[in-house]
Amino acid sequence: MPSKVTLRTLNTLRERGTPAVFITAYDYPTATFAERAGVDMILVGDSAAMTMMGLPNTLGISMDEMIVFVRSVCRAAKRTFVVGDLPFLSYQPSDETAVLNAGRFITEGCDAVKCEGGVRVAARVRAMVNAGINVMGHLGLTPQNIGQLSGYRVQGKTRAAVDQLVDDAIALQEAGAFAILLEAMPAVAAEYVRERVDILVYGIGAGPHVDGQLVISHDILGNFVGDIAPRFAKQYASIGSQVEQVFRSYAEDVRSASFPALEHCYPIEPLHEAEIQGCRAQRHTAN
Ligand code: KIV
Repeated sequence: MPSKVTLRTLNTLRERGTPAVFITAYDYPTATFAERAGVDMILVGDSAAMTMMGLPNTLGISMDEMIVFVRSVCRAAKRTFVVGDLPFLSYQPSDETAVLNAGRFITEGCDAVKCEGGVRVAARVRAMVNAGINVMGHLGLTPQNIGQLSGYRVQGKTRAAVDQLVDDAIALQEAGAFAILLEAMPAVAAEYVRERVDILVYGIGAGPHVDGQLVISHDILGNFVGDIAPRFAKQYASIGSQVEQVFRSYAEDVRSASFPALEHCYPIEPLHEAEIQGCRAQRHTAN
């Protein structure tokens, strides 16, 4: 088995100019397939609120719910670097809240945690790093601030906006974050930010000039149930419609009594079968 992906591995990938492959997973089977496929990093995203729980945004998922997803993924991902996404209000209130909740993810097996924001969460990032925890920052389209951003909008579209992103990125770096994730911004904005920090910079919808690409597994598999279809997502399959078709075929087979067929039934010794059939026949006669 290839060796465990660590911070060192991720830095080596960058030195070699090899983009890291980063994907979300929330359950044991998906994480198993991601690990077998050799992805470098898994994010157990709070996007689970939308992808797995059918909520309209990421704000409603709790720490306890995230723990179930984190546990399932960590059980599967032995080699892959796992990042646990701190949900809304699990780190904003205080340094202590941040450290305790990040610590829960780490004790469940995560290699790092992620939180949203720059300058305004720098103190929390420092507290978690001081507790020995690897922290990834998240800038650009930060879904936990959807109200302040007035919806899911592309970020970093002006010089002033990009300068703000740089200030945030530097604050995260100075607070000890090992990486920053940039979401939904023009490629040139992400490139500009990346050139101004020394830590790893990953992107989702941030173009090619970053150290690795993150995608939401449901977007590339085609099994997201909802209306959001981001421009940056490339769909490789239509798993959702395949699943629906399988369920329709199964329903048809059950209703037409073509399932279960002989090959789905357990065999029995002819002698015992004859004995049981004999009993049945007697009971029917008696009735
Ligand atoms: O929760 C998540 O999957 C994320 C990505 C959208 C970046 O934070």
